[in-house]
Amino acid sequence: MGKVKTGAYNPLPVVPIVLVGANVKGKPNYMAAGFVNGVNVKPAIVYISLNKKHYTPQGIIENSTFSINVPSANYVIETDYCGLVSGKNIDKSNIFTTFYGELETAPMIEECPITCECRYTGQKVEFDMDTIYFGEVIQVYINEEILGEDRRMDILKANPIYYSSIENRYRTLGKDMGPAWHVGKQYIPKQTTTKQAATESKYHCDIIERPAQPALTIRSRVSSIALARMIGESIFAVSQYAKDKGYAPAGLPFVAYYDFDGREQDIEIGIPFKPGIEGGNNIKVSEIPGGKSATYHYIGSYEKLPEVRAALKQWLDTNGYTISGAIYEIYLNDPQTTAPENLETEIVYPLLS
Ligand SMILES: Cc1cc2nc3c(=O)[nH]c(=O)nc-3n(C[C@H](O)[C@H](O)[C@H](O)COP(=O)(O)O)c2cc1C
Repeated sequence: MGKVKTGAYNPLPVVPIVLVGANVKGKPNYMAAGFVNGVNVKPAIVYISLNKKHYTPQGIIENSTFSINVPSANYVIETDYCGLVSGKNIDKSNIFTTFYGELETAPMIEECPITCECRYTGQKVEFDMDTIYFGEVIQVYINEEILGEDRRMDILKANPIYYSSIENRYRTLGKDMGPAWHVGKQYIPKQTTTKQAATESKYHCDIIERPAQPALTIRSRVSSIALARMIGESIFAVSQYAKDKGYAPAGLPFVAYYDFDGREQDIEIGIPFKPGIEGGNNIKVSEIPGGKSATYHYIGSYEKLPEVRAALKQWLDTNGYTISGAIYEIYLNDPQTTAPENLETEIVYPLLS
């Protein structure tokens, strides 16, 4: 494959576009910016790189505060406008609805689903055209409607704008490519060629300590043909029972696989809850055991789970781990609303410590 020299410029093809806000001479001013990112996790430090000629830096120096606002795609026109005109000549204070937080002088945008207020740390780095300002994030504000059921931010609902500098166009989010800090585990080193080595490197577990968790469960013996139906019915029965009792789930549905006698599988199906629950009818109070365990985050159809469990067992055996009880599968998303290839399952093997 031939490489072509194309000159010296910032080669990052796409960056999220934000609106940097600062109060200049007592009025909110917002500018579009792409040179923005985090530089430290704790305390949360971000940087913004601003051209020396802009109006916004005056406000940052004046108040030692600024804000970062992440606009949704439906505000692309207003966002671009804030990048086209300067507060030096045009009042940009009424394009959006401004609100203030704990710092009181960092203007934030009501219409942006994600905003944060920052205290300028006093640290800056000067280049010929731009100055990098560092800010400590004091508070992040999220619009209620972009929170998912698990109260975590749903980035698809936030629908941020991305700037493709090479094309000079705005774009929105594309395909979901799988979980970060995880898909890389599927990498097969180039020198490994045997089929067994490939299997081992694809299916390797994380060894972690897990806390024990109370649960309401239904235990039964079931043939492989009736397994899927039994899981669905039992999860439904447990959740209905818990609803009637006023118990809120403290985790996601799971199945524990005990012995298989060649004909039927001994399984326990349930949902975790906080301590203080009571069983009833065929629903028992049980416990997901804590302690040392091997876990694997599997993405794909439930049909392949037996195959994955077999490969993981092989990996555990090869690496000298001894399984000490039932194997747990925790179902991380809803099979009713998720395509089979995107289903996520956490597979947990309790281990001898
Ligand atoms: C897509 C886009 C990205 C931009 N990124 C930056 C940036 O990272 N830093 C910067 O100094 N200016 C950036 N600008 C330019 C400023 O937003 C623009 O010059 C603005 O008018 C400055 O406003 P002000 O003078 O009111 O501060 C960008 C503009 C656009 C349209």
